Amino acid sequence: MHNRMILADCRDALPKIPSDSVDLVLTDPPYNTGLKASNSTRLTHFFDDALPADEYRALAREVCRELFRVLREDRAAYVFMNWKSLGVWLDALAGAGFRLKNAIVWDKVVQGLNYQNYAYTHEFLIFAVKGQFHPRNRGLEDDAWHDLWHIRRELRQTTAAVEHHETVKPEAVLRRPIEHASEPGDLVLDPFAGTGTTCVVAKKLGRHFLGIERESRYHAVAVAELTRTRPDAAPARCGRTWRETPCEAIRRPRPRTRRASRRAWKAHR
Ligand SMILES: C[S@@+](CC[C@H](N)C(=O)[O-])C[C@H]1O[C@@H](n2cnc3c(N)ncnc32)[C@H](O)[C@@H]1O
Repeated sequence: MHNRMILADCRDALPKIPSDSVDLVLTDPPYNTGLKASNSTRLTHFFDDALPADEYRALAREVCRELFRVLREDRAAYVFMNWKSLGVWLDALAGAGFRLKNAIVWDKVVQGLNYQNYAYTHEFLIFAVKGQFHPRNRGLEDDAWHDLWHIRRELRQTTAAVEHHETVKPEAVLRRPIEHASEPGDLVLDPFAGTGTTCVVAKKLGRHFLGIERESRYHAVAVAELTRTRPDAAPARCGRTWRETPCEAIRRPRPRTRRASRRAWKAHR
C-alpha cells in the first residue's frame, strides 16, 4: 500500500492496512468546529465538521487505535488540533497506547477563523510515539527543534488545493515533522488527507505516502496535485514571522553541547 490516495472513510480503510507497516503518521483531522458545508456562508469550500461530542470522541478513539496498530514500533504520530478538541485527541492517543511527548504550538502569525474571543492565531501539533523514538534528522537547520513554530499561514495561496479546501496546511509546517521523524523511502500515512498536502510534501521529500479522504471533491484535487508533484521538488521551507522577518533570520543555531546550551540559555534570558 504505497503512494496511493484512497477515497474512503478512514474507519473503513485503516483496518485494511497491515499492522506495523507505517513509518510515520501525520494528520490533520476534523477539529469538530461546528461548521457545516451547507450553512457556512463565508467559507465556500468547507466540509461537515459538526459531530455530537460523543460521536467525535468515538471517532478519535477508533482512529487512534488503528493508527497505533499500523505504526511500526519506535515511530511517531503527529496530529494537528485546536485547543477545544485537544483533550479529545490526547485522551484517544494515550488510550490507544501512544506515549504523549509534546504539543507543539504553531503560531500562524495571521489569525484564523474566529474574530470574537481573541482571534485564533495558533494550533497545536500533538507529538506522540509508539515505543522509543529517535529523531531522524541530526542537523536541523531552523527553529524546528523548539516546540513553538512561527510559520505564517498563507492567506492567498494559489495552488489548486487551496482553491478547494479551507484548512490546507502550509508545506513548511508539514515538512518539519516529516524530516524530524522519517527518512527517505519511509511510508507516511495521513488518514484525513483532504487535498493531500501531507502526501505532496512527503513525496517531495522522497518518502512514500498513503492518504485517505472521504470526500471525492478533495480526493480528486489530491490525486491531481500528487500527479503534478515531482519527487525531488523541494517543499517550501518557512513562512514569515509577525515582523515579516524570514524565519531563517531569527533562528538561533542549535547548541551542540550541554555547556553551549547553558551558555545560550543565559545569553537569552
Ligand atoms: C482538516 S481537513 C484536512 C485538510 C488537509 N490538511 C489539506 O491540506 O487539505 C480534514 C479532512 O478530513 C476529512 N474527513 C473527515 N472525516 C473523515 C473520515 N472519517 N475519513 C476520512 N476523511 C475524513 C474531511 O473531508 C477533510 O477533508
